[in-house]
Amino acid sequence: MTPGEIDATAALGALGATLAARLLLARRARLVADWLRRARRGEPAHNGELPGRGILAGIAHEAAAIARDLADARETAEQEARLRRLGDSLWTPERLRDHVRSALSGRPLVVVANREPYRHARRGGRVVVETPASGLVTGLEPLLRACGGTWIAHGDGNADFETTDEAGRLRVPPERPQYLLRRLRLPEDDARGFYEGFSNEGLWPLCHIAHTRPTFRASDWAAYRRVNEAFAEAVLSEIEGREEPCVLVQDYHFTLLPGLIKRRRPDARLALFWHIPWPNPEAFGICPWQKEILDGLLGADLIGFHTQYHCNNFLDTVDRFLEARVDRARFAVERGGRATIVRPFPISVDFSGTASPDAAARVRADRLSVLAETKADAVLVGVDRLDYTKGILERFRAVERFLERRPALAGRLTLVQIGAPSRGGLADYRDFADRVRAEAARINARFAGIAAPISLRTRHHSHDEIARYYRAADACLVTSLHDGMNLVAKEFVAARDDEDGVLILSRFAGAARELRDALIVNPYDLDEVAGAIETALTMPQIERAPRMARLRLQVRENNVYRWAADQISELSAVRLGARALARP
Ligand code: F6P
Repeated sequence: MTPGEIDATAALGALGATLAARLLLARRARLVADWLRRARRGEPAHNGELPGRGILAGIAHEAAAIARDLADARETAEQEARLRRLGDSLWTPERLRDHVRSALSGRPLVVVANREPYRHARRGGRVVVETPASGLVTGLEPLLRACGGTWIAHGDGNADFETTDEAGRLRVPPERPQYLLRRLRLPEDDARGFYEGFSNEGLWPLCHIAHTRPTFRASDWAAYRRVNEAFAEAVLSEIEGREEPCVLVQDYHFTLLPGLIKRRRPDARLALFWHIPWPNPEAFGICPWQKEILDGLLGADLIGFHTQYHCNNFLDTVDRFLEARVDRARFAVERGGRATIVRPFPISVDFSGTASPDAAARVRADRLSVLAETKADAVLVGVDRLDYTKGILERFRAVERFLERRPALAGRLTLVQIGAPSRGGLADYRDFADRVRAEAARINARFAGIAAPISLRTRHHSHDEIARYYRAADACLVTSLHDGMNLVAKEFVAARDDEDGVLILSRFAGAARELRDALIVNPYDLDEVAGAIETALTMPQIERAPRMARLRLQVRENNVYRWAADQISELSAVRLGARALARP
């Protein structure tokens, strides 16, 4: 090769190398630009690593730092937006208090419920205060705590009147008084006929489809009427001299109360909330006093149910049995020159706070202690009053069916079933509690092992004690045969601030209409419930966490403060008397 040829080859080689270097540089620059574009748009960049080496390494390092700052700023902005959105829709005790103050503008608030929020009882020579297991109390207490007012209830604790003034009044909660509780003393026979008889042997089975036949006795009905009259007198004395008071009547114990109050105080704003299902007209039609009941209820300006379905059943029932105009466009009943509006208000729980920073650690600690206590590797939880509508026997049999399918888990899985004593004066309830105990014993004997399949606790548990089991459980079983709402489902969700755990929920509970991320089951179908237990125990965390996060969002945004606020808004906007009939 001549020197000229060598020079030319070297020049070509140099040109080639330069070209190759430029191409490589251009490719890397394109990759960097592409990476930066993705980072700017918030898209995932390749493996998160910037493709810069050699002379681009310094630039890559700086650009990566800028991209990280950008991602942090974006995350902060998104979080702030989420909190702003939640802030707009979130109801808190403070927000409810301001809302109620402005809606009532000085008018008094009176709540009437048979069950009292605090009961004083003498135990072993000491007076103790108890909080009854009641969805109604769980729902209403936060309203009274936030807004003040008067709660009128039957004082059925054996030391109740040792702690009140002569008129049966005391301020509660005992540890930090915020509102007035007025206890009514009822003659024993009246209390029995009203509460055990007509309310719980008549209306309760009438409204729940659980295949228990209602019993209607004329003597119970007479007691029910007398007790409704006694409560009406108490309300009238509380609101005497106060203009346009707001009275919130609770539940099937007081169907006659709105009518009795309205006749004497047409200016009172009356709402009645029905905490249980309302049946279809055929089922309701067997009640001998159907007309009196509907007539009494329609004394209210507003009637609330948990679901639209129950509102529809109520309107159909009025249409069938009374001479009244049912306005299905306004969801109202017009009768006797006035109107009653009918609306769904799904009750909820007190859940407005944010997760505490130590949530995960607390859940871990509770789980370890419950596993040690039950000697199980997997824990299910059920929490109910011992009531035949709650599907407790069916739940036990579903656990049995699950263990038949997965015998290797016998001795390693436990259902902790908290069964609060309830309505023990009634033979049906005592028999039911006995059957629950016997069924647990039978299944435990069949699958005897280190951990018992059913760990039944039939004493009253405090909220804190129950919350510990909620937090420890792999899944919560709510298998009501029929239920207005069921607040256990929502309490479980509110307790899971670790965003874990699975809810198995009966499709016959009102809560199933809202909590769509639960595993929805037919409690009568044991195979389906056993399958749901299997699904819950094997569901990967990557599916459990987003389901629970969505459930929590739903419960938080529709908490009990919103439930109360919506009713107060609706009630204070109601037009009283003939004005209510004017077309808008
Ligand atoms: O949820 C229906 C309901 O009747 C509530 O109204 C009541 O708080 C709960 O059951 C408990 O019943 P009781 O007051 O008879 O113990």
